[in-house]
Amino acid sequence: MKDDEALKKLRGPLFILFEGIDGSGKTTQADMLAGLLDSMSVPVARLAEPTRGVWGAEIRKMLSGNAAPDPWEQVRLFILDRREDVAMNVIPALGRGDVIVMDRYYYSNAAYQGAGGIDPGEIMEINRKEGFPEPDRIYFIDIDPVLAMNRIASRNNGGTTEIFEKGDFLSAVRKNYLSILGKNSVVIDGSGAPEKVFASVVSDIRNAFIQ
Ligand code: TMP
Repeated sequence: MKDDEALKKLRGPLFILFEGIDGSGKTTQADMLAGLLDSMSVPVARLAEPTRGVWGAEIRKMLSGNAAPDPWEQVRLFILDRREDVAMNVIPALGRGDVIVMDRYYYSNAAYQGAGGIDPGEIMEINRKEGFPEPDRIYFIDIDPVLAMNRIASRNNGGTTEIFEKGDFLSAVRKNYLSILGKNSVVIDGSGAPEKVFASVVSDIRNAFIQ
């Protein structure tokens, strides 16, 4: 059986997270996975942080502003958003037995706000103390920050970028990610075509979660 087909046997509750720097293509991967599972009638919850809730709106305003606020203020806002997301979306989805396909979570908090000058390990600890559920698998879609910036520039067509979309900053974010990823994380080369990247994701899910 092909890897893609085998995924119809996937059963929740299962929590799969995609992480990566801006421009890594992780949102495309999350969409592809959620779309594939959905087409196979596997119950799936496609989630993302920042959310579309009140705190998410506050965060989007911050991201499109001119300057980043104090990194601890950023940590606070993202955690407020995450508390709501976990209570309203993550826990109910796990309770229903869904496969959660999530785009960013507290690993983003550690990597990005860590690049703002806070110890990433400390941010991980704060989030874990909140009791947020731990993902079963984390796919870190890894690309060179230079390639990421090129993708962001062509996507925006010369328009405005968000406060974190800067080459040096994204290099620091990438280093932080690589320092915090644990045993449930898989680093996937994100430099190729989306279909090629997706084949690596699907193959790992099959090996890890389907007998
Ligand atoms: P997005 O572009 O994937 O929607 O994410 C928006 C930005 O939010 C992205 O630059 C990363 C940033 N972010 C943090 O800095 N900390 C966090 O905890 C999360 C969830 C996102």
